[in-house]
Amino acid sequence: MTEQAPAAYAGPERVLSGVQPTGDLHLGNYLGALVKFARLQHEIPTFIFVADMHAITVWQEPAKLKQQVREIAAAYLATGLDPKVATIFAQSAVPEHAELAWVFNCVARLGWLDRMTQFKDKAGKHKERESIGLYTYPVLQAADILVYKATKVPVGDDQKQHLELTRDIAQKFNNDFGAPGFFPLPEALTQGPGARVMSLRDGTAKMSKSDPSDNSRINLTDDADAIAQKIRKARTDPDPLPETAEGLEGRAEARNLVAIYAALSGATEAAVLAEYAGQGFGVFKPKLADLAVSVMGPIGGEMRRLLADPAEIDRVLADGAGRARALAAPTVAEVKKLVGYWAG
Ligand code: TYM
Repeated sequence: MTEQAPAAYAGPERVLSGVQPTGDLHLGNYLGALVKFARLQHEIPTFIFVADMHAITVWQEPAKLKQQVREIAAAYLATGLDPKVATIFAQSAVPEHAELAWVFNCVARLGWLDRMTQFKDKAGKHKERESIGLYTYPVLQAADILVYKATKVPVGDDQKQHLELTRDIAQKFNNDFGAPGFFPLPEALTQGPGARVMSLRDGTAKMSKSDPSDNSRINLTDDADAIAQKIRKARTDPDPLPETAEGLEGRAEARNLVAIYAALSGATEAAVLAEYAGQGFGVFKPKLADLAVSVMGPIGGEMRRLLADPAEIDRVLADGAGRARALAAPTVAEVKKLVGYWAG
């Protein structure tokens, strides 16, 4: 007898993603994630949240956290998310994330979490001093996604492993509780040259909020002068740009600037190289600076305008939370029944 393949998920497509309110957003967050949110909202129902529950896995000043959430919400709006089209909310306003995360803590295996490289990177040598929340962080992330039965998750490259874990958890839950196809196995959307933007000071390190050097990143709130200056100071090499991508082998900084140009302009890296082959950085950098200023410059201004009216941002978040809960609550109700909770 041949074994039957498990039933596949047959529900609708949904996009979900989130960003932690733990510091200034930068070009990597923009190209790896935010720019895709604004595009996808017109294609598939889109849920975008601010991950304040994830943020507290490391210490956050309580008096500042709410404002940090508003800043991320402002960045979402300033980069084109439309609250009438997409559902925008704060994670902590939808308690179903935490309820599902507990069940998933009991589904996921220690060995799976032990493999997570982000925890190892963040904890360094002193993992026993980190919060347990930081360790189970990817389990909460799986709950964020699956509580909406989301099928597509636009993120940067660094989140791929968390998406693999999410699929493992979904699969094991479906098997363990005899519910084939209950949860989808969501896909990470990481395509494109902006999936892994590197530091402007070191082409082998990821552009990151936590890099001590502000010159390593372009912040969404940087003004035109700051953007242009950071690109002018970006580390490069003395060689001209090659004709093809193979010629960028071993030239991490050059490759990064070409990828940023491609991502910001919507062109392929091949097209960028076809245009600038043979030119040095003396020519390329000013062009890149102009492009970056034209795309990023208006975003910071729009964020400042939005943040001047926090009540309006709070209204957007409250409305989004209501819509998100309407979808999350039935999932958790079904999960409680499947698990056999007394309260199920
Ligand atoms: P976070 O807040 O670290 O980053 C937000 C998004 O930005 C992407 N990103 C980058 N993309 C390209 N190049 C870079 N240098 C770069 N740095 C960051 C990240 O990949 C991410 O897409 N765990 C998530 C937040 C989260 C989440 C979720 C995401 C919580 N639950 C559920 C999706 C679905 C995080 O820490 O992102």
